[in-house]
Amino acid sequence: KRPVILDCDPGHDDAISLILALSSAKLDVLAVTTSAGNQTPEKTLNNALRVLTLLGRHDIPVAGGAPKPLARELIIADNVHGESGLDGPKLPDPAFAPVAQSAIELMADKVRNSQQAVTLVPTGPLTNIALFLAAHPELHSNIDSIVLMGGAAGVGNWTPAAEFNIFVDPEAADMVFKSGIPIVMCGLDVTHEAQIMDEDIERIRAINNPIAKCVAELLDFFMIYHRDPKWGFTGAPLHDPCTIAWLLNPSLFTAIDCWVGIETKGEHTQGMTVVDRYQLTGKPHNAKVLFNIDRSGFVDFIVERLNDYSGL
Ligand code: BDR
Ligand code: CA
Repeated sequence: KRPVILDCDPGHDDAISLILALSSAKLDVLAVTTSAGNQTPEKTLNNALRVLTLLGRHDIPVAGGAPKPLARELIIADNVHGESGLDGPKLPDPAFAPVAQSAIELMADKVRNSQQAVTLVPTGPLTNIALFLAAHPELHSNIDSIVLMGGAAGVGNWTPAAEFNIFVDPEAADMVFKSGIPIVMCGLDVTHEAQIMDEDIERIRAINNPIAKCVAELLDFFMIYHRDPKWGFTGAPLHDPCTIAWLLNPSLFTAIDCWVGIETKGEHTQGMTVVDRYQLTGKPHNAKVLFNIDRSGFVDFIVERLNDYSGL
């Protein structure tokens, strides 16, 4: 079992990511921590608790993280995820409370006490991960890697140059990409290929267990924002679940080792991930960047994971 800590800002695709990760016997989810991003820190924490309540996983410790980015005011994505951050399905109220520790303390405890090096899986802004790495250099050697959703080698989705998670806290992203810890970057290059179509949502709904039904309803809402013709999408890009698909089924992807720099200033490029795909700088690579995905294999993977919730 691979020990992982999921640091997320649920968020529809974050919620689906949690559901997929917790369905697998191959992952040992040591903790769920929440970042401010898609919604306010209070709402993302509450949403993580609601999703875990739906799954009946009160055994997973949950902790809230930093209230805002390291050096900036928080920007939220309520235009994508709605007023609650998880608009759409009717989710239960939290049936349990977060632990007394902060996200950073909980991460430190879990990494310190793990027999096996831990994989961090951030799917929101990188604020908590940066704070944790800065506070605990002695624990870096027990971190296996950081498998994150964020960035893009190509165009952005929040500004022409930047993807949302990196744009919200570029200083944190800069610290993480300079940390020397192996990084897998699931950016827009791959997540925009990981589109879920209407017929896939119907396939998920037809699984007909309460969790798959909730995922279909999350996707119904998530679809609304992505139907705008300006994107040129047929479906909705399922960003965050690409991290879990990489962990459980890396053969779905093409990955290239690259140097990645984070633009923290820039007149038009704040939060841009500068990806040296063609090794033009000669700088040593600091990330494995995912570029392509077998889309139908990805959908099969989601369906297979959700099927595992039948008969519980
Ligand atoms: C990222 O931004 C958020 O809205 C999603 O949850 C995902 O993590 C995509 O840019
Ligand atoms: Ca997210």
